[in-house]
Amino acid sequence: MREDIQEILYNEEQLKERIRELGKEISGDYKDKNLMLIGVLKGSVPFMADLMKEITVPCIMDFMAVSSYGNSTSTSGVVRILKDLDFEIEGKDILLIEDIIDSGVTLRYLVDYLKGRGAASIEIACLLNKSERRRVEINAKYMGFEVPDFFLVGYGLDYAERYRNLPFIGILKEEIYK
Ligand code: IMP
Ligand code: MG
Repeated sequence: MREDIQEILYNEEQLKERIRELGKEISGDYKDKNLMLIGVLKGSVPFMADLMKEITVPCIMDFMAVSSYGNSTSTSGVVRILKDLDFEIEGKDILLIEDIIDSGVTLRYLVDYLKGRGAASIEIACLLNKSERRRVEINAKYMGFEVPDFFLVGYGLDYAERYRNLPFIGILKEEIYK
């Protein structure tokens, strides 16, 4: 796997440190709230697992699964819900947890979808932001790192479902997906 990586952008230590800061910020902001973390499967899993351990206020967790990419490296623009929430979100302060915002299509769709269900608030925590590629307007209140427009893998991010288990964020060599 490692030989398919052109360059490491963020190693384990750097990820950990930034996530600790985000956790602190979130813990302050949600002190007297009704926090519910919603992870977007499967890319958010390592980020969510690390982030929730840095959150010091009570919270519950749930997951959604959507698909928009298939086996390609750019979005199809059509979002499909593969797994919906287990819990009701009425009165909850929702924090959507995502690995990366690219075109923004996925999160825009999810936020609009959840808005009609009576949540007290909806915010986004996203590890990576590829703002150069944005096609629709969406902003994350909690953002780990701004990244350049390369195809990235590791720490939850995949190419054709592989590389999610790398402990760092790296640039995938172009020859792998060309
Ligand atoms: P968006 O809808 O275009 O914002 O895409 C969001 C989703 O696309 C993320 O949850 C990722 O699963 C995937 N994605 C976007 N950029 C990358 C990347 O560089 N590497 C791997 N997955 C990506
Ligand atoms: Mg994803």
